[in-house]
This record gives sequence, C-alpha cells and structure tokens, in this order.
Amino acid sequence: MRALFWIFLLGCACWEAARAASLVPGKAFDRLITIWLENQDYAKVVLEPSIADLKRKGILLTRFYAHTHPSQPNYLAAIGGDYWGLDHDDMVHIPENVSTVVDLLDYRNISWAGYFEDMPGPGYMGNYSDGQTGNGTWDYVRKHNPFVSYESVIMEGERLLALDSFRAFQRAFKAKEVPQFVFMTPNMMNDGHNTSNKFAADWAHKFLQPLLDPKAFDEKTLIMLTYDESEDYSQPNHIVTLLLGSAIPPALKGTEDSTFYTHFSLLSTIQNNWMLPNLGRYDVGANVFQFVADASGYTKNKEPANAASVNNSISYPGFLHTEPTNRLDIPIPNDKLIGAGGLPILDKIKQKWAGDIKKVGKTPYDGSGNVHDGDNPPVYNPPKAN
Ligand SMILES: *[C@@H]1O[C@H](CO)[C@@H](O)[C@H](O)[C@H]1NC(C)=O
Ligand SMILES: *[C@@H]1O[C@H](CO)[C@@H](O)[C@H](O)[C@H]1NC(C)=O
Ligand SMILES: *[C@@H]1O[C@H](CO)[C@@H](O)[C@H](O)[C@H]1NC(C)=O
Ligand SMILES: *[C@@H]1O[C@H](CO)[C@@H](O)[C@H](O)[C@H]1NC(C)=O
Ligand SMILES: *[C@@H]1O[C@H](CO)[C@@H](O)[C@H](O)[C@H]1NC(C)=O
Ligand SMILES: *[C@@H]1O[C@H](CO)[C@@H](O)[C@H](O)[C@H]1NC(C)=O
Repeated sequence: MRALFWIFLLGCACWEAARAASLVPGKAFDRLITIWLENQDYAKVVLEPSIADLKRKGILLTRFYAHTHPSQPNYLAAIGGDYWGLDHDDMVHIPENVSTVVDLLDYRNISWAGYFEDMPGPGYMGNYSDGQTGNGTWDYVRKHNPFVSYESVIMEGERLLALDSFRAFQRAFKAKEVPQFVFMTPNMMNDGHNTSNKFAADWAHKFLQPLLDPKAFDEKTLIMLTYDESEDYSQPNHIVTLLLGSAIPPALKGTEDSTFYTHFSLLSTIQNNWMLPNLGRYDVGANVFQFVADASGYTKNKEPANAASVNNSISYPGFLHTEPTNRLDIPIPNDKLIGAGGLPILDKIKQKWAGDIKKVGKTPYDGSGNVHDGDNPPVYNPPKAN
C-alpha cells in the first residue's frame, strides 16, 4: 500500500516536471496570445487614444485584411486555413477530417487553449450564453469561438477541455501556467460588438496592462491584438492588428510594418516560429509577421500579385455557403506545398486525404498568397509545388 502511494506521488511529480520542462522555444517568441475585437475600420481604430497609447509599445501592422463578412468565417479562417465559403454566423460543423492549428501544435507538443469570456464552462458547445460580466444576454457567443465548429477539436475530450472562460485564463496567468498558444475573445460588450470602438479600445488597454508588465511572463511572449473584420462592408476589409509583449525587439517598439497580411498570417507565423508542418491550405503563402521572419531568416514574404484589388467583402463559394449554387465540396489540401515552417503538410492530413487527392485532382491552394473573395473566387488547379 505504502509503496503504491509513493509510486503514485513520484509519478505525479515527474509528470509535472516533464510538463514544465516541455516548453517548446520559438525563433522569435515562446508564447503567442491573440485577442480578438469586433467590427471596426482601420481608419477609425488608429484614432482611438487607447490604441495610440498601446502602439507606442508595439508594432502596428498597417496593411492587415480580414477575409469576408460577417464575423464567423474570419474566426474559422484563422485556425483552419480556409473559411469554407461561409457567409453567416449560425451554427456550423466542419467534419473531423479537416485539421486545424490544434493538430499542428499537438505535433510538437506545444500547449494551447482558447479562452472565451462568459463561456459558462469548459467545452461548452451551445450557440450563446448569458453571463454576468457583460450586459446580461448573449455575452458569450459561439460564432466568436472558432474551435467548437471543428469536429477534429471537439471529438477529443482533452481538446474540448482546453476551451474555457476568461476566469480560467486569469487562474493560469496567476499561476504562470498560460499555455504557449492562446486564442481569446472577450464578451459581446468588451469586444465592441454591442458597444463602441472606444469601449473596446479602452477595455483592451485596461485588460492588457498586467499582461504587458515586464514580470508578467517568464518566457518571450507575443500578444497579437486584432479585429475580426471591418465595419464598412463597402470598403476593402482593412483592420488594425497590433503586436505587443516581451517578444517585441526594443528597437521596434512604436514602429509600423506595412507588409500585406490576412488572418492566415497567424498560421504561417506560428509555423515559421516553431518549425511546424502546414495544413496544405491558405496557410501556405500567407506572409509571416516581418519581425518573426527576420528572427528566423525567412525570406519568402512578398506582395500578393493581386493585392491592389483586395476587397474581401463577400464570401467565395464553398461547402458552408448558404446559396446552393455557390456550394462546393471541401477542397483537397495541396500536399506538395512547403510552408513557412520549412516543412511539408502534416503527415496525418496527407494520409487522410490521399485517396481524394488522387480522385479529385484539383485544389484552390497554390501557396501564392493571392487574395480571394466572392468577386474574385479561387481557381482550382492540379496540386503543384510552390
Ligand atoms: C443553434 O442555432 C442553430 C442555427 O444557427 C439552430 O439550428 C439550433 O437549433 C440552435 N441550437 C440551440 C440549442 O439553440
Ligand atoms: C510529444 O509527446 C509524446 C508523449 O506525450 C511523445 O511520445 C512525443 O515524442 C512528443 N513529440 C515531440 C515532437 O516532442
Ligand atoms: C448584443 O446584441 C445582440 C443583438 O445583436 C443581442 O441579442 C444581445 O443580447 C446583446 N448582448 C449583450 C451582452 O448586450
Ligand atoms: C445594457 O442593457 C440595458 C438594459 O438591460 C440597456 O438599456 C442598455 O442599452 C444595454 N447596453 C448596451 C451597450 O447594450
Ligand atoms: C467590395 O465588394 C462589395 C461586395 O461585392 C461591393 O459592394 C463593394 O462596392 C466593393 N468595394 C470596393 C472598394 O471594391
Ligand atoms: C471528409 O468528411 C466528409 C464528411 O464526413 C466526407 O463527406 C468526405 O468524404 C471526407 N473526405 C475525406 C477525404 O476523408
């Protein structure tokens, strides 16, 4: 009995030690926290005093574009490398054979979590929930939580448990146990959806102060404050993204970066930073945040050939499009692409799709980084190397 007890205790201690020791260092950062605000135009956000103040401490990305309207497809894009033609905010399900950022992170045992303010409990899959810290109704909404729509995430209990509320984040923050990849959405008040540009900017400023304290994290941490989409649907979908945190080189604080980016750049940037394989979708070809590319020696950032015509205001055809005439099968990934991590597609994805790659033979993913929307839809071609 006693021996068993000690084996149990030792086992626990070893496991804790292994977990603590298993931090996977990156080329430019050891942790990325992305925080999503809602529906504001670039031109208005940069005028907010709270944003101007934050900008002094970080890098403002001046040419960052969302993909379409409304909200939900933009969230899905950032973790899945496509938004699947989605053009609405209702409940959707993306089948288990579609991989996300979670499969890439798990490949290297990089810890991750999604924190959603007023989510009533870990792994909640409902459409919405009325919380206490917002205005009482629809504080948490599923449409701003991309993970729950991917069955490859929710069909594994441990992954589902990595989706939790802001309270869980605060607990992890206090204990210095914040995972290495974190996706956060404030509630419908704090993210600006039901309030205003100023409200969300002031909330972000206040929320970020403890996270920007030099003693907040022991590891090099990059905080990416972004917006899901712009407010004005008639204009190209231009949004503000600010890079902050201890990973920002001191000489770059208060500067601007005018490289062309989209939400797919979240995927390419972490692939580059942690040498991850790719998803074989629009993650490949998306520009890597320049300071990260500089740290890793990556030289493939470029202006997309069709950047001058970017609009990104309506959804291209895909399997989640509401119009039957715009509905297509899930595209096959391109298994010939090398991503920003210097590696090919994740082997598990290649295996799963091998039959269809042979049978279907055409893919929209070419690794070019070109932008597409409903007015400028993707063109399908046989998979080619980039
Ligand atoms: C969630 O919303 C979808 C439409 O988006 C609806 O079909 C479904 O019934 C809703 N589920 C619940 C539990 O409210
Ligand atoms: C990830 O962890 C598992 C055990 O949990 C181990 O078998 C595997 O080798 C690790 N992979 C990497 C890339 O460290
Ligand atoms: C936010 O606005 C929606 C309508 O867009 C409403 O249903 C919801 O109750 C509001 N939520 C909060 C927290 O104010
Ligand atoms: C919050 O709710 C109250 C009523 O419950 C309403 O009068 C007010 O407009 C709401 N505020 C916002 C920003 O939605
Ligand atoms: C962008 O696309 C939308 C939808 O097709 C259109 O209404 C709008 O005029 C376009 N805007 C620009 C600047 O091209
Ligand atoms: C992926 O899953 C969907 C839905 O179950 C199915 O229709 C499709 O054939 C599957 N494709 C592959 C390559 O597994």
